[in-house]
Amino acid sequence: MTAPLPPLLLVGCGQMGGALLEAWIGNGLAPSVVMDRHRDGVAAPHTTVRELSKIPGDFMPEAVILAVKPQKAVPVMEELATLRPDIAARAVFVSVMAGLTAGSIAGCLRGKAPDATPAIVRAMPNTPCSIGQGMTGLYKAPDVTDRQEKLCDRLLSAVGATVWVPEEDQINAVTAISGSGPAYVFLLAELLEEAAAGLGLSADVARILARKTVSGAGALLDHSPEDAAELRRRVTSPGGTTAAALAVLNAPANWPSAIPEAVAAAARRARELAS
Ligand SMILES: NC(=O)c1ccc[n+]([C@@H]2O[C@H](COP(=O)([O-])OP(=O)(O)OC[C@H]3O[C@@H](n4cnc5c(N)ncnc54)[C@H](OP(=O)(O)O)[C@@H]3O)[C@@H](O)[C@H]2O)c1
Repeated sequence: MTAPLPPLLLVGCGQMGGALLEAWIGNGLAPSVVMDRHRDGVAAPHTTVRELSKIPGDFMPEAVILAVKPQKAVPVMEELATLRPDIAARAVFVSVMAGLTAGSIAGCLRGKAPDATPAIVRAMPNTPCSIGQGMTGLYKAPDVTDRQEKLCDRLLSAVGATVWVPEEDQINAVTAISGSGPAYVFLLAELLEEAAAGLGLSADVARILARKTVSGAGALLDHSPEDAAELRRRVTSPGGTTAAALAVLNAPANWPSAIPEAVAAAARRARELAS
């Protein structure tokens, strides 16, 4: 049996924070504190507070998960550092917030102790985390211990797969591939559905064909040891229907340029938001 997760402080319990919390509780979570202005009570033994000042004085989390929108984060982190410098000094801070660098988070958490070295991990999860099928890229800043790194990996593994990148800038690439990636796949489903309707299929038939094709292909890819390219080749008979479609998609001006351009635009935007 795996050991329960240690006490956590979750700041922001919306879509992402809520999905993480549900998974952690399901995995066995030591009594923890959730801070969110809208959240009603999380079942005992956990505590919900609407203000940081209401965190019990004797509560010491091993990790603080920052899951508010980035634009709301600075005052929260500064207040936490002022009210609970002990937490800021001892816990590992896991930010799932897009765009805020480890340096800027550390700057907010130092509070009145400019020599403090807060431990910061940046995590970029994606929406399939809400069904335990997520993909999270993580980066640890230099002051994170091995033990803290293992804990962060456990926390994000509760909602899917994890991968660590060695450079903070690579979090922008993670954002562009797996963070934003579900939207690219949903767009493919939308376009397939429209194309199916364009071929004269009813709306219901078009919808189920598009959805099940995308989800079934994704599940097959997930279960297969083969590369995506090999799976593609297996459905592509020379001179057949799939080959006719792929000749269009693979024309140099189509997917081979559109996908890298789209991903580069996302990575560029992630960098802009972080600066
Ligand atoms: N959803 C995703 O797929 C995803 C993926 C990767 C990363 N993220 C990151 O996860 C973070 C949260 O995103 P989300 O989609 O979960 O947002 P969300 O659903 O809006 O959740 C944020 C929650 O935090 C609350 N909050 C805001 N300021 C607060 C404060 N000062 N004190 C306490 N609670 C506060 C919000 O309440 P209010 O409504 O009052 O502000 C809201 O309930 C973002 O930084 C985002 O970049 C999200």
